[in-house]
Amino acid sequence: MSALTRRGRSPTRNDLVVAPGSLGVPALEVRDLSRTYGAGDVAVRALRGVSFQVEPGDIVCIMGKSGSGKSTLLRQLGLLDAPTSGQVLLSGVDVTRLRESRRRLLRLGHLGYVFQEYALLPELTAEENVYLPSLMTGTPLRQSRLRARELLEMLDLGNRARHRPSELSGGQQQRVAIARAMVNRPTVLFADEPTGNLDTESSEMVMTALTRLNEELGVTILFVSHESDERRFAKNLIVLRDGEIVEAKS
Ligand SMILES: Nc1ncnc2c1ncn2[C@@H]1O[C@H](COP(=O)(O)OP(=O)(O)O)[C@@H](O)[C@H]1O
Ligand SMILES: [Mg+2]
Repeated sequence: MSALTRRGRSPTRNDLVVAPGSLGVPALEVRDLSRTYGAGDVAVRALRGVSFQVEPGDIVCIMGKSGSGKSTLLRQLGLLDAPTSGQVLLSGVDVTRLRESRRRLLRLGHLGYVFQEYALLPELTAEENVYLPSLMTGTPLRQSRLRARELLEMLDLGNRARHRPSELSGGQQQRVAIARAMVNRPTVLFADEPTGNLDTESSEMVMTALTRLNEELGVTILFVSHESDERRFAKNLIVLRDGEIVEAKS
């Protein structure tokens, strides 16, 4: 058994490998990461040897023009795709070498995802959408629902818990998706252009929600943005151009 037990409940078989905030160990370490799509004449080198570290509790903004490799980078870090070469270490553990069954457990229990499209299940209420991934880890319904309620309250959606997605605004739906991504207490949350479909006011609320979770729950966040003024929500910035880092501030 590793040092890991997620806060606030007894360990389960999902508690593999990753200890949040282990002393002196980066939450995320990327070593010479490359991803090439296709081969031969049609090969696209979307990532070309990217290296950086993210400390626990950091909030990092990833910027760059369309096609610069932002989504590809996030997918490699979030274990949604496998790199062509290089390593990703999560709390010091090389996750590129893990079996798919372990990677699946990490995705469900230790990583959170938010995408531009909210991908909520239309027939479920906000609360049900949020606690579904909690049920999938074997957490009892009562406990799962309580956690969902807490998160919805925290994101100012306490009075929307019984609404279905179609009864919510875009910004509200995205905040439900963020609550869902947080339900299993991930150590790292990935958000790929979370405000891409939203107006300025809703974008502001979504970004504020993310920073609040970072500050109050300590979750490490990496978000992609194409709005240059959203970098103000981040502590660190990574700029990609043609699959390479051209600016990394720490
Ligand atoms: N599944 C794929 N197959 C082939 N090429 C891809 C695939 N996904 C992305 N690409 C290419 O990789 C490059 C980086 O894409 P992407 O990571 O989506 O960029 P960004 O998110 O910065 O817009 C682009 O040239 C894109 O066309
Ligand atoms: Mg993208």
